[in-house]
Amino acid sequence: MEEVTITSEDLMKLENEHGAHNYHPLPVVLDRGEGVHVWDVEGVRYFDFLSAYSAINQGHCHPKIISALKSQAENLTLTSRAFYNAELGVFEKYITEYFGFDKVLPMNTGAEAVETAIKICRKWGYDKKGIATDQAKIIVCSNNFHGRTTTIISFSNDPDNGNFGPYTAGFERIEYDNLDALKNALQDTNVAGFLIEPIQGEAGVIVPNDGFLKSAFKMCQENNVLFIADEVQTGIARTGRLLACDHEDVHPNILILGKALSGGAYPVSAVLADNVIMDVIHPGQHGSTYGGNPIAAKVAIAALEVVKDERLAENAEKLGQIFRDRMNALVANSDTVVLVRGKGLLNAIVINDTEDSSTAWDICVKLKENGLLAKPTHGNIIRFAPPLVMTEDQLNECCDIIEKTLAEF
Ligand SMILES: Cc1ncc(COP(=O)(O)O)c(C=O)c1O
Repeated sequence: MEEVTITSEDLMKLENEHGAHNYHPLPVVLDRGEGVHVWDVEGVRYFDFLSAYSAINQGHCHPKIISALKSQAENLTLTSRAFYNAELGVFEKYITEYFGFDKVLPMNTGAEAVETAIKICRKWGYDKKGIATDQAKIIVCSNNFHGRTTTIISFSNDPDNGNFGPYTAGFERIEYDNLDALKNALQDTNVAGFLIEPIQGEAGVIVPNDGFLKSAFKMCQENNVLFIADEVQTGIARTGRLLACDHEDVHPNILILGKALSGGAYPVSAVLADNVIMDVIHPGQHGSTYGGNPIAAKVAIAALEVVKDERLAENAEKLGQIFRDRMNALVANSDTVVLVRGKGLLNAIVINDTEDSSTAWDICVKLKENGLLAKPTHGNIIRFAPPLVMTEDQLNECCDIIEKTLAEF
């Protein structure tokens, strides 16, 4: 019998016909991944320069992480939290010591972890700070991205989040990287927390001024307001330190992690805080059927071990510098690229164009044809976030591809 080959075209058509159109993917259908590479259905190899929005910091299908996943999957997958399981406590001890907090609350996705942090913060506001019932406020930043739930999009100013109301109240948005605005907002004694991305990833890799995080943290402490760092995208070695907050020696009151906590092998997220904050949550007040399951626990330990064993933060720091140096040289000689910014291996270039035009998209399509996968964010910005296991030679090869591609525009 003749073998029927399913092509990328066929598979894109299937998604288009049977899946909701809530994404606009680049036209490439991936079938396999290993380290810094992915292969499409036709067997063409690419450098992955998105890393599933920084979930694949440890590289695709890292053998140590996959081995943990497989062995635990054959033993026990899910108990729910109605019972204890043999892996969760071990993971909880490991991750709290790793990041220096008393306790962790495990969830699955980044958005769930953000929701968890919001609940903990509000509860702390009522139980510990003495804010009157239903009056707690959380300060957030303009152009934030914290996920897609109804409450989270309630405090977003992305126009794509319009027409999903009624929205959740209790948030005040201030300009990012603006200490005066924060100072003003902190005057309100009903403020329980300040939720911030230490670098705004989705907004286009916006890096605040040096000293901003440290000063913001200090102001929060002075006003008895919890500093909540959403490090779902920036955390776990991506920016050249274990956490982006580490660049300014800020130890947040609440830390939110996701994505690379599993190295892309499984949905695992977590909220970390000290007892005085975390202990406001009592049995029955929060949870998730899958949160803290034994596979997640085993996979996350392996993923965090890889980060330390392979010195991924150090590698991100070193390669990030090389990448920005090369891109800056490009900016100096290019009309197409106006700016490169970022920290470690979380970087973006800004294309000389408007947000509504398709140049950045066209560049990404061309990059794909030249063997490198990246995606525009906000129209004229292209984020570059390769796996942190990349070598210097590979990075230079990728810079060659980017330079060659941009020269065509
Ligand atoms: C900073 C930040 N927070 C939260 C999220 C949401 O994570 P998830 O997509 O796993 O819900 C993201 C996802 O990109 C993110 O970048």
